[in-house]
Amino acid sequence: MWPVKEELTLGLLDGKACLVTGGAGSIGLATARLFLADGARVALFDRDAEPLARAADQVGGDDRVRTVVGDVTNEDDVAAGVAAAVERFGRLDVLVANAGTPAAAAPVTEFGVEEFDATFAVHVRGVFLACKHALRVLSDGGSVVIVSSVAGLRADAGVCAYVAAKHAQVGLMRSIAKEVAGRGIRVNTIHPGPVDNAFQAGIEDRLSALTGGDATEAFNAAIPLGRHAGADEIARSILYLATDQSSFTTASTLVVDGGMSA
Ligand SMILES: NC(=O)c1ccc[n+]([C@@H]2O[C@H](COP(=O)([O-])OP(=O)(O)OC[C@H]3O[C@@H](n4cnc5c(N)ncnc54)[C@H](O)[C@@H]3O)[C@@H](O)[C@H]2O)c1
Repeated sequence: MWPVKEELTLGLLDGKACLVTGGAGSIGLATARLFLADGARVALFDRDAEPLARAADQVGGDDRVRTVVGDVTNEDDVAAGVAAAVERFGRLDVLVANAGTPAAAAPVTEFGVEEFDATFAVHVRGVFLACKHALRVLSDGGSVVIVSSVAGLRADAGVCAYVAAKHAQVGLMRSIAKEVAGRGIRVNTIHPGPVDNAFQAGIEDRLSALTGGDATEAFNAAIPLGRHAGADEIARSILYLATDQSSFTTASTLVVDGGMSA
């Protein structure tokens, strides 16, 4: 589905065990596919069994892949997901905290409290729980990649909960990175711009309805490279942060947005 040139796979994750939350989704699945191509074993964690089974099929579904059904906002589920990965692979070296939901678009004066709390539950509590449980067992020298957004560094009107939650992930990352640096574990956030996938299409539909304009065109006009990213382009940057290619990079914010936030 995504073009991976053979020469780009260098065995950078040979022998490593990785856990990807939101692993049945667009960026999570593209990441798993690249990780597997580079020699990793991957546990895919997501909400529902059926999309997870489809995802496992798409990446080959062999014994290097483990699927785990769970909700990142539920501490027992996250603990069980980490335990399942360690049980299958005997170790855990990389966490990609990627699960996320596109939040509602509404003016702050109309924004629902439940929607606000639900957005924070997935993006902030979910990342906190994944880090809490994965870092108890993560190998020294391992890597944590938190999938934030350009919305974690800048803002658009009408999406206050998503913007605040994505900014909060940077705070989590900075604090946790300092906490685990002594173990040689690196923790970074990645900040994709708009991706050409269903998640972003949903956001753009809601923003278009709110503003009366064409949000997709507006985003493309705001991106110097003039287009949305492919999920595989985000996955390649996640791969970089996951491997020793980024061995002196921690507590950093890697922007992959076609220049949008400059
Ligand atoms: N698509 C974009 O344009 C874009 C841009 C910047 C950042 N991001 C971020 O990238 C990440 C992945 O998004 P995507 O574009 O692949 O969207 P996606 O909807 O394809 O994937 C997200 C996955 O997370 C899972 N998920 C959601 N809530 C969960 C929960 N409570 N427990 C377990 N799993 C849960 C979903 O089931 C889904 O499979 C998200 O954190 C998103 O905020 C996306």
